[in-house]
Amino acid sequence: MALRSSVTRRTLTLGLNSTRLLPLSRSLQTFSLPDLPYDYGALEPAISGEIMQLHHQKHHHTYITNYNKALEQLHEAIQKDDSSTVVKLQSAIKFNGGGHVNHSIFWKNLAPIREGGGEPPKASLGWAIDTHFGSLESLIQKMNTEGAALQGSGWVWLGVNKELKKLVIETTPNQDPLVTKGPHLVPLLGIDVWEHAYYLQYKNVRPDYLKNIWKVINWKYASEVYEKECA
Ligand SMILES: [Fe+2]
Repeated sequence: MALRSSVTRRTLTLGLNSTRLLPLSRSLQTFSLPDLPYDYGALEPAISGEIMQLHHQKHHHTYITNYNKALEQLHEAIQKDDSSTVVKLQSAIKFNGGGHVNHSIFWKNLAPIREGGGEPPKASLGWAIDTHFGSLESLIQKMNTEGAALQGSGWVWLGVNKELKKLVIETTPNQDPLVTKGPHLVPLLGIDVWEHAYYLQYKNVRPDYLKNIWKVINWKYASEVYEKECA
């Protein structure tokens, strides 16, 4: 199943109720749920099909719906010169927009075993991991430790600082994207440690989820991003 474009366009008609001269209609970009590049059950037994379906169809879809709503309100507030509402909308945009950004990466970070899921990274990313962390096993242990220790909901990331060409491990709370930790950070691999990502299968034992997810990590995708950023 191909990953289709996550962006569609539609047009809103806006009135001339501002102090500024405005066009009668403006094009407002909205976002839609991307298809998964595999079936919901294709990551079993590491991640159940039920989790994948709920996670994609309910959770990710809700972030997109609320992101689009907030963007529409933002657009209208700007047209009305309503700065108070513009400021008020920032947290909803960060949370729901971040949820869309992060989950769009997360689906590409996973792959069925028969399609290479869990196969260790090769070439330049493999060498960089050995250089920075000693071994892939050390990297996995460090990410699992940080992911398990993260309080509440959030993400644990393997990223690359594209200015320094250096790998980093970071965590972010809630739905904050990796770029909130630094403008030069590009995510290679993000693991969702919200309970909705594992509770139906692993109950409250987040470390078991973290231990098993590596069986379906798509290192090929992470390697492609790394090579693009560090070439
Ligand atoms: Fe999630």
